[in-house]
This record gives sequence, C-alpha cells and structure tokens, in this order.
Amino acid sequence: MSNELDSRFRPFRVVAKVRESSTITSFHFAPLNSKHWQPFEAGQFLTIQVPDQSRRGYVVRNYTVSSSPSDEGLYRITVKKEVASTPGVTDGVASCWLHDAIEEGAVVNIDGPHGAFKLDQTSNRPVVLLSGGVGLTPTVSMLKVLAEKSGRAVWFIHACDGGATHALSREVEDLAARRSNIHVHYCYRFPSDDDVRLVKFQSTGFISRETLQTLLPLDDYEIYMCGPPPFMQAMYDLLTGLGVDKRRIAYEFFGPARLLSRSEQRESSAPRAPVVKPIDDAADGGFKIILQKANANFTWDSDSESILGFLEKQGIEPPFSCRAGVCGSCLQDLVSGDVEYVEEPLEDVPPGRVLLCCAKPKSSVVLDL
Ligand SMILES: Cc1cc2nc3c(=O)[nH]c(=O)nc-3n(C[C@H](O)[C@H](O)[C@H](O)COP(=O)(O)OP(=O)(O)OC[C@H]3O[C@@H](n4cnc5c(N)ncnc54)[C@H](O)[C@@H]3O)c2cc1C
Ligand code: FES
Repeated sequence: MSNELDSRFRPFRVVAKVRESSTITSFHFAPLNSKHWQPFEAGQFLTIQVPDQSRRGYVVRNYTVSSSPSDEGLYRITVKKEVASTPGVTDGVASCWLHDAIEEGAVVNIDGPHGAFKLDQTSNRPVVLLSGGVGLTPTVSMLKVLAEKSGRAVWFIHACDGGATHALSREVEDLAARRSNIHVHYCYRFPSDDDVRLVKFQSTGFISRETLQTLLPLDDYEIYMCGPPPFMQAMYDLLTGLGVDKRRIAYEFFGPARLLSRSEQRESSAPRAPVVKPIDDAADGGFKIILQKANANFTWDSDSESILGFLEKQGIEPPFSCRAGVCGSCLQDLVSGDVEYVEEPLEDVPPGRVLLCCAKPKSSVVLDL
C-alpha cells in the first residue's frame, strides 16, 4: 500500500526561494513533468514530504498555496520558520528544513492540492479576508482571485507582530490598487519606530470590536479567516457578536482544529457512560454511528461526505486538520464495524482505528468517542 500511496507524490523543482520577512520565506515549485501540476482553488494546500530518519524515510506537512490558481504550472507556498522558544523543545522539522536546507534547484515531493477551505466564486457577497501571522497564505491567494476575476467588495484585514515579520505586504497592496473597492487594514501588535514613521499599519494591539465595526459597514459578508487558534476564537466571537451569520464564516487552522462554534456545547457536554447495545442496521433502514463514551447514537445520513462531516452536523466536534486523510488529526478508535475510505489515507490506518475525515460506514460502527 505504501508504494501506491507514495505515488501520489510528484517531484517538483524549487524555481525560486524568496525571503518575505524575518521569519517567513516563499518557495516556488514547478513540476519536473508538466502533467504533474494539478489545478487548485484559492485556499487549498499541498502536502510535502520532508526527509527524516523514520522507517518510511519522511514525514509530511501541509502548506497552503499562496499563489493564484491562474499561475498555471507553478505553486508557491509561504512558510514561517518555527523555531523553538523554550529550552528542551526542538525546532520545527519541516519549516526549518525548508528554510535552512532547501535552495533553488532542489527537488521536493508534493501531493495535492487538497482542502475544503476554498473561496466561493459563485457568490456576489462582499468578502472579508481575515488573517493572523502566516495565516495570510490562503487569504492572499483568495485576494488574487477576487482582484483578478470579480468586482466584489473586499476587506483584507491582517494582524501580525510588526513590519519585520509582516509578509507579502507589497503584493497585497499592489492587488488592492488594481481596482476600486478593495480595502486593506493592517494591525501591528508591537510596531517599531520605523513602522510608525513609515505608517505601515492602521491599528495596534489586537483587532478589536471597534476596528471591525468601523471598517465593515452593515452588510451580508462572507468571511474567510485563518490564524493561530486564540486569534480565530477571538475573531469568531467578535464577528458573531456583531451579528455576522455563523454560516458565512469559513476558517482554516494550521494545526489540529476544533469547530469554533461548538464551545458552548463542549462546556455542557453530558457525562460519559459506555453503551453496550446490540446494533441492528435493519431496524430503521440505516447504519448507526454509535459514540461509546458520549453514549450517543445516530442514524447515518448518506448525504454526508464523511463520518467527520456527519458528526459535526450532529453537534459533535472530533479534532481535525487537513480533512484529506493526510495529517492523522482525526484518527479515532473504531470499536466495531466496517468503514470504507472515500479518499485513500496517506498512510495505512492501523487495525481498530479510523480516519474520520475520509471514511464512510459500510456497516453500523461504534467509535470510542
Ligand atoms: C491545512 C494546513 C495548511 C497550512 N499552511 C501553512 C502555511 O501556508 N504556512 C505555514 O508556515 N504553515 C502552514 N501550516 C502549518 C505546517 O503544516 C506545519 O505544521 C508547520 O510548518 C510546523 O511544522 P514543523 O515540522 O516545522 O514543526 P513541528 O516539528 O511539527 O513542530 C511544530 C512546533 O512545535 C514545536 N515543537 C517541536 N517539538 C516539540 C516538542 N517535543 N514539544 C513541544 N513543542 C515542540 C516546534 O518548535 C514548532 O514550533 C499549515 C497546516 C495545515 C494543517
Ligand atoms: S483531518 Fe487530517 S487525516 Fe483527517
């Protein structure tokens, strides 16, 4: 199985390595075989192989494509170097490998693009692109599409520490200058004297309710946001507090994620007790999804794209990240039952476990959730 799965990866050459800020660098990739470039939608990510000492010889990490889908034959990723800030903790494996070991001309194996966090190009609603730190990679790609292909009103709002770490600012400003009705707002947490002198930002500290209220006239926005978890939770709470419809807020985490809207349910979740009930698929004509610890029992709805999506519809929030069978964040114990994979997981799934994001039930299943 591993060889077959390895074949999802295709070799790409690094055709440019561009330093974007003191901590962030972009890598531009072109396929060795032109057929290996696949179209993507703004917001999607690539999975790259990073060599290591494991039996398999590599680990994988996901990086959002920060270039435009119209740049056919090229992908650009924009990566923050994750350096350990506490003694005893190691530096980030993949981000440091990319920054320190990968130069122009190197070959990197890439799978994808993948991902459900995508700009809806069928809509005409005004768009808010909201990012924190390196979370601007999907919103920059989305801004490119919006500037090139739509007349929709756009607010590009970005928070970061300051001018030294701020990536892609010139690019964003050039895109905003291409047409009217694209608004840019930068919020610096720790602006330097130079940042102040050069007027590189519009607000300081954290993005506040007042900032959003001032920037965004009352309207029916679509929000796309990406950033560190505390930023995302704060923005989600501010936006919903301002009356933005939860269904209009799409978001991506760069690590294991949980649904932002479910915090109330998390706090009030019922005490857990094991269920020991016979499972009868035929009783009401559908497979059962049984959560052993939560003592909950649902009938599978065949419209759901995966067990993960189905559970989210029921208000359950298992962890997830890539939603593409790549990262392993949604791996759960499968107590009983059979599943099939709608997207082949990147790695063999151990017996008795299931990747919820890409599996559908083939029988009633009991999960250790
Ligand atoms: C869908 C998706 C899209 C993404 N897009 C981007 C993107 O566009 N740009 C980007 O920069 N990133 C992106 N990421 C994040 C990226 O995939 C990596 O997670 C990130 O680069 C860190 O990987 P790493 O191997 O460098 O760090 P890891 O080795 O995984 O370590 C992560 C962090 O933990 C720390 N750490 C390491 N070991 C330990 C330990 N033992 N105890 C405690 N802490 C430890 C490291 O110092 C580091 O800060 C994305 C992630 C996802 C899921
Ligand atoms: S969420 Fe990444 S494998 Fe399922």
